[in-house]
Amino acid sequence: MNKLTQKGVFKGLNQENIDLYLLDTVDSTNTFAKEKPLTKDYIVVISEQQTAGRGRQGKKWYSPEGGNIYMTIKFLDSNPAPLSLIIGLLISEAMDTISGQKINASLKWPNDLLINKKKICGILIESEVNADNVEFIVGIGINYSLPTKESWWGEIGELADILPREKLINCILKNIIYYLENGYENWKDAWEKRCIHMGIELEAISNNQKDNEIGIFKGINEEGKMLLQTKNELKIISSGECSIKGIY
Ligand code: BTN
Repeated sequence: MNKLTQKGVFKGLNQENIDLYLLDTVDSTNTFAKEKPLTKDYIVVISEQQTAGRGRQGKKWYSPEGGNIYMTIKFLDSNPAPLSLIIGLLISEAMDTISGQKINASLKWPNDLLINKKKICGILIESEVNADNVEFIVGIGINYSLPTKESWWGEIGELADILPREKLINCILKNIIYYLENGYENWKDAWEKRCIHMGIELEAISNNQKDNEIGIFKGINEEGKMLLQTKNELKIISSGECSIKGIY
């Protein structure tokens, strides 16, 4: 496992804007970042392992040591586009950029990244609303290699040769910072192009599991909400996740 260096992580970035924490271990990079006041434009926290990694919907995020990515970036955002979808898109694009080829990691609504139909990256977005702004805390977990895993979890594995961890982190940071400072005009089209379930049947799982809906996925709207053609109507679904036969 190659140790991450400040020089590599920051290459080409304006270091004066960023508070960087490169840690060996931490409970959760999101929790750590939440507790730190934003005195520069960005806080970036990266750890080699997490003892209490957190996933979406109160789930745990398995975070053993061994060359995976556990990273959080904290910032203020006033862009209108839905951050949760944009971040997955920017990570997928970073993978193509640094590998120099079409890795084409696919996107699964709202913000999972898949390679060969297996989840290799999860994104947890939290926010803190203050008197005059909203701070976003964006946690990214990317699995390179796991000693044990569920059937639907994937790994970067041998792709690590063309997706080295430090370069990927650096490119993801560059993409996110560029987006925050410049926006992303055609993000919706770009997201839909990389989506793995355009036009196919899926089950939208609601947060309370009670209002699940089956239908054909018709894309997203400008707010990143799911457009689902059910038997009776075109439904707009704003939260939850989705389940697809043969994937997860
Ligand atoms: C998901 O459930 O898909 C989201 C997983 C997010 C995991 C990352 S790892 C870095 C950051 N710190 C955490 O505790 N969680 C996120």
